[in-house]
Parts: sequence; structure tokens; C-alpha cells
Amino acid sequence: MSSYPTDSNRAHPLSLSPDYKSSVLRAPSRPLIPMRHTLSELTGPVYGHETVRSGDNDLTTQHKGEPLGERIIVHGHVLDEDGRGVPNTLVEIWQANACGRYIHVRDQHPAPLDPNFTGAGRAQSDATGYYEFVTIKPGAYPWGNHHNAWRPAHIHFSVFGHSFVSRLVTQMYFPGDPLFAFDPIFNSVPDEKARYRMVSDFDLENTQPEWALCYRFDIVMRGKNATPMETK
Ligand SMILES: [Fe+2]
Repeated sequence: MSSYPTDSNRAHPLSLSPDYKSSVLRAPSRPLIPMRHTLSELTGPVYGHETVRSGDNDLTTQHKGEPLGERIIVHGHVLDEDGRGVPNTLVEIWQANACGRYIHVRDQHPAPLDPNFTGAGRAQSDATGYYEFVTIKPGAYPWGNHHNAWRPAHIHFSVFGHSFVSRLVTQMYFPGDPLFAFDPIFNSVPDEKARYRMVSDFDLENTQPEWALCYRFDIVMRGKNATPMETK
């Protein structure tokens, strides 16, 4: 039996981030107990990879019409701590629509749903770790954390490695968002450099003329350049 290394966990947000109010109730109040992974946890089959179809990575073609909003390309590599691409990784995303609204019973704020946008997609990284999505730039949305609380525009990412225990979840942000300074979730990552590893780069080189702006988001699974992941 063995465990994955945990050194880079220091980049991740603290379980208890009092400004992020729901973390107060759900953060463990006692020290965590390390648990060794079983062999079957580390080597067993992983849900989902075999069912990814071409087109699942295009969130703009899931309905009869095109969704409203700014079409964007989001792409990058899933990388290990040495900068090598991680192939065959299941990358799943979910996000609000251009107006900042989710199709979710808990999201009832007065912004319109888009009948042509569900807001979920998935892709599998290729042999070099590369993945790509086509989607709509999500809007900022209000949330009830504190007075006048708004989330910076973001896309949720889930990355599944080669076993069930290798799922990691993070959020991708857009460069230059004026809401960064006011967002307790973004700021729950204590180290500033680590925090900005969750912010995508504007990618002019891969922007498609007359069609879509492009953003690059490389996801580093661990090591000193690890992308901060949600640990709760
Ligand atoms: Fe969100």
C-alpha cells in the first residue's frame, strides 16, 4: 500500500476560511487522520473516461440554437510536477451562463436562463496532456456570503486521474477581474503566487479571428507549481 505525496497540499485553500462563511460549519474541528490508500483505490477502474465522445467538449452545440454570450476557447495541458503532460485525464467543467445564472434549483437570482446553454462539458487529455473546450464566457454572479458579495467569473474544473482517489477540483478565473480582491473563495488560497495559478492567461496566439477569444489554463497536479485545488 502507498499514498500519493501530500507536500503540495500547502498550496491549497485552508479548510477553515472564516470570510468564506460556509467553511466555518463544514471545516473539521479535529486534526485529520491520514488514511493509507488501498491497492484497489489506487489501481481500480475510473468512472467516465470510456464514455467521452468528440463534441462533449463544446458547450455551444448542445442544443438547437447557439447560446448567448461571448464564445471562448479554453485550453491547456494537464501537467505533473515535472512539467510533463498527463495523458488520458478526464477533465470536466461546469459553469454559469453569460448572465451568471446556473441551471440549479438553488440559483434563483434575477438573471435569465439560456435555453441553449446547460453549462457542463468534458474532455479527455490527449497523449501530451492537452485538452480543449469551446464555451461561453460565464458572468459574475451574486452569492449570499456577505453584503454585496459577487463571485468573479469562473469555470469549475474537475480532473480525474487514473484512480478514484485522484480526483481534484478547482476553479479557473479570467485575467484582470476586478472582483478578485473581494472574493473570499479566491482569497482562501493563502499564497498569492498560488492564487494566481488559478487565473487563466489570455491567449491571443490561439484566438480565432472572427470567432472566439482564447484563454490558456494549464493545470499542474502537484509540486511547487501545483494549481490550488478545493480540499473540502
Ligand atoms: Fe460557481
